[in-house]
Amino acid sequence: MSVTAKKKAPMPVDIRAAKGGIPIVSLTAYTTPMAQMMDPHCDFVLVGDSVGMVLHGLPSTLGVTMEMMIMHGQAVSRGLSSAMMVMDMPFGSYEASPQQAFGNAARLMSETNAGAVKLEGGLTMAETIAFLVGRGIPVMAHIGLTPQSINTLGGNKVQGRGEARDKLLADAKAVADAGAFAVVLEKVPESLANDITAAIDIPTIGIGASAGCDGQVLVVDDMLGLFTAFKAKFVKRYAHLGDDAEAAIAAYAEEVRNRTFPGKEHVFADQAPKAKT
Ligand code: KIV
Repeated sequence: MSVTAKKKAPMPVDIRAAKGGIPIVSLTAYTTPMAQMMDPHCDFVLVGDSVGMVLHGLPSTLGVTMEMMIMHGQAVSRGLSSAMMVMDMPFGSYEASPQQAFGNAARLMSETNAGAVKLEGGLTMAETIAFLVGRGIPVMAHIGLTPQSINTLGGNKVQGRGEARDKLLADAKAVADAGAFAVVLEKVPESLANDITAAIDIPTIGIGASAGCDGQVLVVDDMLGLFTAFKAKFVKRYAHLGDDAEAAIAAYAEEVRNRTFPGKEHVFADQAPKAKT
């Protein structure tokens, strides 16, 4: 039985208990209509800080603010009834201290009705994860390629190859031991993702990782073909909505210019039509 076979939205403990079962399904969402579309199909929906690049045209996730996250979290929350919502903690909102992280995580949870927060980092964030979990805030961890650290990682490179393999395995164990209920593995070699999945007792959620992970997540605008600035190898396009939208806009522009829109069916007569008796 999948996690969402339940009528109520799953809680972090339900996601945690899905380890090794039917794969956990997740997508990012930033708006109410998109959340409504994925609600029946996803176990959890992530309000990712990818919103900065996907909807706000930012060059990276670093410029995303608490206010942006809260506004999108509130919109997504209004579209969900059977999927859990996880809120990304934006860059600069949690790294300084466990206390800083608690203040901002509590705000994200109370102002958006989220079920959990997600933050990036392994061993270095373990103390913060334990602090939050101990104070009632469920945490999803995120290791491997952590986009908020793009400047120290030196770009969007695959993480955990060669000597970095053991460190990533240690990061996974550290966040699991600290009490995270799940961990996102982004852009890591397939065999390492499989080893991590076998080594820890919390679900691994893959993005550019392995079909052997306990679940998968994708950025919804990537998989629908709405965000086309670039396409990572791990993105599968399930639709090409960006192309469809551009063709529709071009058709509209042409019809406006040649006065075929609006047509007779879109305009109003002087007198209201008589009601039928
Ligand atoms: O911000 C985001 O969309 C994410 C996913 C890529 C996991 O963190």
